[in-house]
Amino acid sequence: MQRILIADDDASIRGVLRDFLEDEGFHVAEADHGAGVLSALESGNGARPDLVLMDVRMPDKSGLDVLREARSATAATATTGSQLPVVIMTAYGTSNIAIEAIQLGAYDYITKPFDLDDVLITIQRFFEREALSHQVHELSTRLGERDPNEVMIGNSAPMQEVYKTIGRVARSDATVLVSGETGTGKELVATILHNSSSYARGPLIKVNCAALPETLLESELFGHEKGAFTGALAQRKGRFEMANKGTIFLDEVGEMTLSTQKKLLRVLQEREFERVGGSLSVKIDTRVISATNKILPQEIEAGRFREDLYYRLNIIAIYLPPLRDRRDDIPLLVEHFLHKHRYLAGSKPARVSQGAMRLLMDHEWPGNVRELENMIERATVLSQGNVITEEYISFSGADSRRFVDIGQRLRKGTSLRDLLSDVERQALSEALTITDGDRVQASSLLGVELTEFRERMGVFGL
Ligand SMILES: Nc1ncnc2c1ncn2[C@@H]1O[C@H](COP(=O)(O)OP(=O)(O)OP(=O)(O)O)[C@@H](O)[C@H]1O
Ligand SMILES: [Mg+2]
Repeated sequence: MQRILIADDDASIRGVLRDFLEDEGFHVAEADHGAGVLSALESGNGARPDLVLMDVRMPDKSGLDVLREARSATAATATTGSQLPVVIMTAYGTSNIAIEAIQLGAYDYITKPFDLDDVLITIQRFFEREALSHQVHELSTRLGERDPNEVMIGNSAPMQEVYKTIGRVARSDATVLVSGETGTGKELVATILHNSSSYARGPLIKVNCAALPETLLESELFGHEKGAFTGALAQRKGRFEMANKGTIFLDEVGEMTLSTQKKLLRVLQEREFERVGGSLSVKIDTRVISATNKILPQEIEAGRFREDLYYRLNIIAIYLPPLRDRRDDIPLLVEHFLHKHRYLAGSKPARVSQGAMRLLMDHEWPGNVRELENMIERATVLSQGNVITEEYISFSGADSRRFVDIGQRLRKGTSLRDLLSDVERQALSEALTITDGDRVQASSLLGVELTEFRERMGVFGL
């Protein structure tokens, strides 16, 4: 039974809420002062309320004080952000208090006088969300140990839609197409889906369809027989065969040529294929997850992607929104990455100053979560695990100014490696600006292979 603690110094309000919530099937406890709430929140598992409905005005401490103290008490163990299972009750018209409460980590607020049905809706939403994030955590947790590379962070409404879909399709083996801009977490979703599917015991085989020219990609996917082409000295198994009883992750599927698309379609339809240069057909039992940062319907329109293949791949669609459309998730992600990229193993995570947080909240994040992660990792190193202030946050636009300060940066202890990496980052981003984002042109401008260029872009979260 879900446990709700009602904290209000007004006994009649507690009484009304208690009767109502008990009728709705909740287990209800009461507190008439703030300290009671704190000790309840800190109590062991069995006694800890699942949700607290808390008045802002209480005799000993205000609800805001309680939030502040509860937050600092739980911060050390928080893994998913700093939200508290608290709904604040405030007098109508005190929106500044409501806002502050949310900033301090309350889940939501209701205004007094309240309508009991609204209270119930808020409570139900809370528990629904809890169940979802619990589910996603379960999914991203394997064998009890949580790998920070396999947790999805973010509580924004669009991410909750994503979690719902993941939850629904996880255990099924449906074909999923994950789309979204670069760095939004497509590969992460694929990994979580694989780990929670019935193919989880099998391998997760990744193929980057953009990294290889057409002929190599086909032999990579389907393998080849000895002598299939010059250099095919022995028979080789392709990724589809390696992924037998597991998942194949076709990354950047929008980059496949039409002829490879046709072959892929056949494999998906017939669940069998022949190795390049061979005639024996090989059956597959593999879950297919693909990803793209292109808008495939547009590619279809332009004649670059087969519509029939699109429908095969897109049985279930998961769209990951760009970070700039869910800025509320930034603080949670920052906290997560501070944990993940601690300066030294076992050391405390760095903190981000308010000013630096403001910069992070305002940035457009063209490289999305990956760009944010790289930035936090870099700032942690530059600040040597101490407070990350504005000076450690720099976006490519501001980089040009920084080179003037090489001497100054050296004096601050910046290493040659970091300086060079800043130069490289700027060169990449300038090349992209000059070529209007055309990676092929940008890579030739820089005199590097496209694959290397892409890889470096990934490193810098561009
Ligand atoms: N919601 C999230 N919570 C935590 N980490 C995330 C989240 N989204 C992305 N990341 C992290 O950001 C990095 C980039 O994610 P990922 O590689 O999955 O992006 P992608 O969409 O596949 O990008 P690309 O299109 O460039 O290949 C990874 O380190 C991933 O763990
Ligand atoms: Mg990817």
